[in-house]
Amino acid sequence: MLRKLVAGNWKMHGLSGDLDEIRQIADQSRAYPAVDVALCVPAILIERAARSVPGFAIGGQDVHYAEKGAHTGCESAVMLLDAGASLTIVGHSERREAQRETDQLVKEKAQAALAAGLGVILCIGESLDVREQGAAVQTVLAQLDGSLPDSIGGEAELAIAYEPIWAIGTGKVPTVSEIAEMHAAIRRRLDDRFGADGRKVRILYGGSVKPSNAAEIFSIADVNGALVGGASLKAADFIPIVAAAS
Ligand code: PGA
Repeated sequence: MLRKLVAGNWKMHGLSGDLDEIRQIADQSRAYPAVDVALCVPAILIERAARSVPGFAIGGQDVHYAEKGAHTGCESAVMLLDAGASLTIVGHSERREAQRETDQLVKEKAQAALAAGLGVILCIGESLDVREQGAAVQTVLAQLDGSLPDSIGGEAELAIAYEPIWAIGTGKVPTVSEIAEMHAAIRRRLDDRFGADGRKVRILYGGSVKPSNAAEIFSIADVNGALVGGASLKAADFIPIVAAAS
């Protein structure tokens, strides 16, 4: 059985004044040692967050594929590590859409991060159109194929986050059987691609995870955790989700 990972995605939220909330989340998470908990915060907060919660996993939300160079406004994996991050999100649908990130680019980012020793949460997920056309599984698997690093199994850990775009920030959640079908398909694909190494890859569900639906989502086979947006901003919402995973 894989340990569950519950990761918060703060997106473009968080100022110095919110470091206290991060401290509360880290403190209260200690009551659930069976769950891995992480918070992915804006790049500019990583160093201060990591300093204020030693031993707690702080992550970034994106990373560049190059180690350094002429890439204005970007951060590399070694920079995130240097600031105290231990993981990063790559390929979030908000970046795939707004920054036009392709599967190939997401793959390069994932590979660079893992090679540098930074854990990766790689996001995939279908639009409502695709879901309604009945093409969700094939579309998500194609995205997975295009975005997966060529190899895994080093020190740094890969996790996949299945996040249906239509469920993000909308309060809409797929049915239990839709989540189960997708996670099982992703699990089989990881098995085919990476064999025994693939079995260590956790598959997270993301999209409107809340205290009220977390327990049901975590009870689904092949759901190994969650990527949580809005409900990760406050300990009062996030910790019950961590508790549900415990
Ligand atoms: P949400 O966001 O929990 O607010 O729906 C999830 C995500 O985008 O990672």
